[in-house]
This record gives sequence, C-alpha cells and structure tokens, in this order.
Amino acid sequence: MLASKRILLIIGGGIAAYKSLDLIRRLRERGASVTPVLTRAGTEFVTPLSVSALCGQKVFQDLFDLTDEAEMGHIELSRSADLIVVAPATADLMAKMVNGHASDLASTLLLATDTPVLIAPAMNVRMWQHLATQRNIETLLADGIAFVGPNEGDMACGEYGPGRMSEPLEIVSAIEAQLANGPLRGKKMLVTSGPTHEPIDPVRYIANRSSGAQGTAIAKALSALGAEVVFVSGPADVPAPSGVQVVPVGSARDMLAAVQRALPVDAAVFAAAVADWRVASASETKLKKSQNGLPKLEFQENPDILAPISHLNRDRPELVIGFAAETDDVVAHATAKRDRKGCDWIVANDVRPETGIMGGSENDVTLITKDGAEDWPRMSKDAVAKRLADRIAAALT
Ligand code: CTP
Repeated sequence: MLASKRILLIIGGGIAAYKSLDLIRRLRERGASVTPVLTRAGTEFVTPLSVSALCGQKVFQDLFDLTDEAEMGHIELSRSADLIVVAPATADLMAKMVNGHASDLASTLLLATDTPVLIAPAMNVRMWQHLATQRNIETLLADGIAFVGPNEGDMACGEYGPGRMSEPLEIVSAIEAQLANGPLRGKKMLVTSGPTHEPIDPVRYIANRSSGAQGTAIAKALSALGAEVVFVSGPADVPAPSGVQVVPVGSARDMLAAVQRALPVDAAVFAAAVADWRVASASETKLKKSQNGLPKLEFQENPDILAPISHLNRDRPELVIGFAAETDDVVAHATAKRDRKGCDWIVANDVRPETGIMGGSENDVTLITKDGAEDWPRMSKDAVAKRLADRIAAALT
C-alpha cells in the first residue's frame, strides 16, 4: 500500500525518537522511501548515522548547509514528499508550527510546504495537558494537520497519562490512511461512537453496555477509503482507531457540543448509544448513605444529537445515518425512528441480550432507507462497517 510513496520524516527531540528508527524500518518494508530530517534536539536521542543507515539516504539537519541547498533546496525538500510525518512531534515543534516559525530546518520545511502533514505527538503528560498545548492542538487541527496519538500509559519520565508517542505500526496505519487513494479522499466524515456517561455524583454515573466496537470499525473503514474522519467517542471499551481525529467526550451534552464543533462534514454516522436521560441535578459531592432514606434521583431528558443535525438547513451533511437499537419490532420501530429523526438511513439492530450483539464482535443489521428495509446477513462488525462505508462512498461519489 505504501509502495513508491515518499515520506519526509522529521524526527524531533524526545525520548520517543528511538521508536522512529523502527518506524523507518516498517515504512521501508512496505515499499516507502523515507527522507529523514533530524532536529538538533533529535540528535541527542538518536544518531544521524543510525537514521541515515536505516533510511538508506543522507539525513538533512541544517538549514544553512550549502551542500544541501545545492543538491536540493529546502523548499523543494518540503514539497517533494507525498506526506510529511513528524515523529516525535514535541511540544516545542508543535508550538513552532502554530506560530509559523522558520528558525531551523524542521520548522522551515513545515512552514514552506503544501504537502499534507501528520504528527505523532510525544511529551510529558503535564506538557500535553497544559492549556498552551491544548490551544496549539486546536489550532493545528483547524489548520488541517492530522494527528496520530498520543497514547495513554507509563512514560519514560515516570508519570502516567496521555503523552506517549503512538507505536510504529499505529503510525504506519495512520500514514496509510492519509495516503489512501480511496473513493472518499477529500471527504470529511463524522462518526459518533460508544456509550455516554451521565454523572450522578463525582464518582458514580449512568451508562449502557455499548462497547464502541461498531462505531470504531466504521471510522476505520471510512478512513481506509480515504476519508478524513472526526471520531467523537464516549468512554468505550475498545481502543479508538488510529489515523483519525479522536474527540473523547463524557456525557450526551458533551457529545452534542463536539458534534456541532466538527461541522460541516460531508456525511455523519451516529453510532453512539447516547443516554436518553441524565440525573437532573448531579451532586457536586459524593452522595452519602443517610438515616433519611435512599437518595431520590430525578431524571431529565438529554438533548437529541441526531435529530437536530438531520434537520439543519445550513451545514446539513449530505448524508446522515442513524442507528436504531431495538429489542422488539425492530424494522417497524426503526422505520418510524428514521421519519422522526429526519435522517437519510437507519442501521437497525436487535440488541436483546440473547443476540450477543451489544458488546459482541458480530452484528445483524437491517439498513432502512427511503426505498425500504434491506436485511443484511449476520457478519462481523468489521464486515458491517466495510459494507456501510462502501455504500456511503457510492452515495457520495
Ligand atoms: N441518538 C442521539 N441523541 C440521543 C439519543 C440517540 O443522537 N440523545 C441517536 C443515536 O446515536 C442513534 C439514534 O439516535 O443513531 C437512535 O438511538 P436509539 O437509542 O435507538 O433511539 P432513541 O432516540 O434513544 O429512541 P428510543 O429510546 O425511543 O428507542
């Protein structure tokens, strides 16, 4: 899939730079050529010799290296690749990108390029969570920079949390998704997935059994067809896909806000199992057992997400797809739901516990469109996702 693709790999100065050596091997195994750029800080973690040996070509390091300019100017270097990958992307490199610095070779290349850019951030958890970095992430996303990771886990500095660079194979999949020349290239898709968590107090919440498996599979399948995917997910059991823009949310109201921020998109798939109700006034402090009896929880209806997006005048996605989780009269309920919500298609499924669908790896769906109900055979959630993605591609192109 990466045969004859040209990757310009910028290696920033972070301990995760050692993983970039493996990344180079993985990319070359798949037939890509890798032109390396090593920042000065990067040389503190990996040597130019090992990088150039693995890439099979020279390492570019210095903006004012006249030999480099004679052989290939920095402008040309920045544009001759199919994709620029920054791994690890340090907090400093990201800040330079946001502010348009051209103070060294890496930042100059990133400023001079019109080639798509994918970054794999890596930094200490506090640096990742700092408001300055969070602001920079928003700006980079708005500028069209694609992200892979970071992952959550133990960090070299001894702390735990988000900030670990994605693993080489995750970065490879993100690169493949970026370079996919599928029918959805240039299209932006929104996918909601997972359950929502509705707080009762700071330690308790109401949730449902959705694992997020079907929504995750759909996001991957759309991305494999070349779509740019914004993946808005509640707290799911399965890991979020790589190579897509992941927006983690908690409650239904958070999900609605994230969906509105993601618009406009060409198509939206609402696979999330959104809680219908929340506790009207969640307690700010932990509810305690008391002599005065059991706590009384009052419920309030959550906002619908699918219906208002389906009814938008401006910015309505060309194709809006809902899911219908039903336990009886599946087709009748789902057909009525399609009318009520105003979406174009409904993917209906029977979620009675005995079907094993909610939380399982297979799905048995009926696709409901304006032309009627179409029964699909029971198949893996990945296969449902692939078939749905192909249908979406056919409808949009
Ligand atoms: N949905 C939504 N916002 C909500 C509830 C549901 O966007 N507050 C979306 C789901 O993501 C799904 C579709 O609406 O695509 C149908 O969800 P479902 O739970 O089956 O239906 P409800 O609207 O909750 O209706 P009911 O509870 O009456 O079955």
